Amino acid sequence: MRILLAPMEGVIDAQMRAVLTGLGGYDRCVTEFIRVTEQIIPDHVFHRFSPELKQGGLTPSGVPVYLQLLGGNIKYMGLNAASAAKLEPQGIDINFGCPSKTVNNSDGGSVLLREPQRVGEIVKAVRDAVDPSISVTAKIRLGFANSDLLEDLADKVIAGGASELAIHARTKEDRYKPPAYWNKVKSIADRSTIPVIINGEIWNPEQAGTALGESGCNDLMLGRGALACLDLAANIQAQQNGQAYTAMTWPEVLTVVVGYLRSTENRHPMFVSNRGKQWLVFLQMHYPEAKAVFHQVKRLKRAADVFAVLETNLAASLPLTQSPSLIKLSTKAY
Ligand SMILES: Cc1cc2nc3c(=O)[nH]c(=O)nc-3n(C[C@H](O)[C@H](O)[C@H](O)COP(=O)(O)O)c2cc1C
Repeated sequence: MRILLAPMEGVIDAQMRAVLTGLGGYDRCVTEFIRVTEQIIPDHVFHRFSPELKQGGLTPSGVPVYLQLLGGNIKYMGLNAASAAKLEPQGIDINFGCPSKTVNNSDGGSVLLREPQRVGEIVKAVRDAVDPSISVTAKIRLGFANSDLLEDLADKVIAGGASELAIHARTKEDRYKPPAYWNKVKSIADRSTIPVIINGEIWNPEQAGTALGESGCNDLMLGRGALACLDLAANIQAQQNGQAYTAMTWPEVLTVVVGYLRSTENRHPMFVSNRGKQWLVFLQMHYPEAKAVFHQVKRLKRAADVFAVLETNLAASLPLTQSPSLIKLSTKAY
């Protein structure tokens, strides 16, 4: 079983990939989507989305990162894949799942799920444009309004030459509402000639086991669950291998959050407070302690004020003697 870290625009950036893959359990990451219009994307944009390109397309802990392209123009998807390929990414993933109105109105993301033929042609254009050593993968949902075209979509993705297919087991209309319909992926996974990766609504190791079982997939992709429970991938790997696992404690988690936010201090002045609050919202799903901290930071704007709250909470939650693993986490440079 492999575990992939899902692409999440505005949430999982390079520093977050470094943090999460550093905690173990992940086999691959995908960048936030890079929008393709009728223009050639300059190299610096690819480097901005994936600073890992300067390190062989790997996170600091050696996990491959694929660039994700999003767009409906077959010719420009191919041309931009060719220019991305010159930077030697580990792979290129194509986004056919984004439900955003802005994205869909500009002919990209899940709106393309209504046109399996074009999905296949985009995959083929990207595949033909890049060296065979670079993997090309696709990410879809079950469909746009229903899953009637799912088989056709999967067939076209495979015929287009993709080496793997990730399926977010909801339609565009379902957006992010639970449940995810893992069992609807089974007929695809059972007859697919390429690996199919199950995604959607996996928040704990038990759900991971059920998602794998119901979908018939061997691999899974974690999105919001990865941000709610920082060591979810390592925990799932341990459970799947029948090994005991000691979950991260709240002080360990808070230490990682502070370390991540410190690594982003050179960005927009509001970045620390916005990302800090956003992450605390995800963390509340798994750590009850995150709720109180969120309430203390929710009206703060300045990075220094946010850090003061986080560090006060961290000091209060620490045992008198720090555990060796905590010292390691707090001194780790992301
Ligand atoms: C805030 C946010 C941003 C996302 N950005 C992307 C993206 O850039 N590319 C993509 O393919 N999927 C994107 N997704 C979808 C996720 O990759 C994933 O398919 C979805 O969240 C379902 O998985 P989950 O239930 O484990 O979160 C995004 C989802 C969220 C919530």
